[in-house]
Amino acid sequence: MSNWSDGYLTDINYTYGYYKELSPKHIIVPLLLEGIAVPEIKNACELGFGQGISINIHATAGTAQWYGTDVNPAQTAFAREVAKKANNDAILTDQSFAEFCQRDDLPEFEYIGLHGIWSWINDENRHIIVDFIRRKLAVGGILYISYNSLPGWAATSPIRHLMNIWNKNMASSTDDYKDRVERAMHFGEKVLAQSVGLTQNSAEISNFLNELKNKNFRYLAHEYLNQNWQPMYFTEVSDYLEPAKLSYVCSANYLEDFYDVNFSSEQAQLFDSLPAQARVRQTTKDYMLNKRFRRDLWVKGGYKLNPKRLNMLRGQLKFMLITERDKVSLSVTHHRQAQLYPEQINSILDILADKKPHSVNEIWEAVNKEHIVNEQLLFVLLTLLYTKQDLVLVQEQEQIDSVKERCHALNQYLFELAQSSSETPYLASPVTGEAVICGQIDALCAFGVTKGLKSPKELAKFIWDIFKPQGTALRKENKILQTDKENLAELESLADKFNKETLPMLRQLGIIA
Ligand SMILES: C[S@@+](CC[C@H](N)C(=O)[O-])C[C@H]1O[C@@H](n2cnc3c(N)ncnc32)[C@H](O)[C@@H]1O
Repeated sequence: MSNWSDGYLTDINYTYGYYKELSPKHIIVPLLLEGIAVPEIKNACELGFGQGISINIHATAGTAQWYGTDVNPAQTAFAREVAKKANNDAILTDQSFAEFCQRDDLPEFEYIGLHGIWSWINDENRHIIVDFIRRKLAVGGILYISYNSLPGWAATSPIRHLMNIWNKNMASSTDDYKDRVERAMHFGEKVLAQSVGLTQNSAEISNFLNELKNKNFRYLAHEYLNQNWQPMYFTEVSDYLEPAKLSYVCSANYLEDFYDVNFSSEQAQLFDSLPAQARVRQTTKDYMLNKRFRRDLWVKGGYKLNPKRLNMLRGQLKFMLITERDKVSLSVTHHRQAQLYPEQINSILDILADKKPHSVNEIWEAVNKEHIVNEQLLFVLLTLLYTKQDLVLVQEQEQIDSVKERCHALNQYLFELAQSSSETPYLASPVTGEAVICGQIDALCAFGVTKGLKSPKELAKFIWDIFKPQGTALRKENKILQTDKENLAELESLADKFNKETLPMLRQLGIIA
């Protein structure tokens, strides 16, 4: 650990995650569902961008000018390389929050996002960030912030504490982080086995430790061995953000707010009886659902749109179906499962089945009004299908045209990375302004298609010619495939699936011509 990082772990780099919640496009539907004005986002900022996958995808496929910082210079170097390849003009620095937030050459931002930061930094840095948001978030601007929440962590935080204590006091500085994570978990198991009073009081605690074994060790190192870690109640986060003139809007993920997939009828009744204050409602929700992580949208001075303007703005949005129509599931699952009414969803899918973009106005004109009785209900159903990722929100044609070339350049680089690693399985879509998460083999199949290859056989050979010299082999049913023939056969079957399922979607999303 270095002293320039304020205690944040820097000797092991973070994972290459992509988070669509960090996309300014992603705020449009939740805000309009809440009836809140959506700012035009010219300048956007991501604090603590990690490996910079999200910021680079959004700077490439969207139209905002991006700024971002992450104190880890190795991660920033990678992120800058990606930005250079994509030619996306993102301004990426390795400044600490303390340095970056004091810069006097930054514009006002209509959007500031921080994912996986708030709970993992010290309080001084939290205050630096809040002060930055107070000064630099434009009026009407949106903050996306995620954090570990209480009471969800109350029962299991002793595991984190134990692993952290092991790391601070018993790890040797020469241990690599994979070993450290494993040994810290093993220590946790040994201690818990002798902590009957604790485990009897909390059935969750031992199961939780077992589940950690399936997680990525880089994630575990950052979550469990990092110096700072502070889960918070919603009201505690509100105490920081409200003085910066922010008000809570809603979750960035509509499934968090959709009653039917969260509450039993008794819970819904209690929730409905509460006063309007977000502090009471969100706290009650977090208790009823034992929430461990929140992804929230806050606004600085957001105002409610009048019903006519709201309808007009919703009406202009364009949605496109990307799931095969007969594969759209009518069940929605979050904390609970709920069934959508088939007549309502089918009435929408009848219009979207051609897999072309359709505006909400167009859908409203054509939809069966016996089943979808008003525009509010239509927008809720479209939001659900969008949150379930059956639909995407399509950018304006002008925006698509302006970002096409950059997306192509970025995707070429992501193809290049996919040849030697499965860690960056993302492709940038000019149509949505966001990423598609596709997997290494699909990315390589897509690469092959851009080179004019078509049949599964050709694609399989193309990939095997990349993998074989690297000593990479495929895995099937938990066995590593040994021969060329076995690997080629497996690749051919994966390429066949790609041609049938993924390729049409990549074409729809403008990733492949
Ligand atoms: C848990 S990671 C999350 C990264 C990224 N947002 C993601 O979700 O993939 C936290 C990130 O914050 C960065 N960070 C921690 N303290 C920082 C500081 N004081 N100034 C700038 N960046 C910091 C770390 O280098 C790390 O990449």
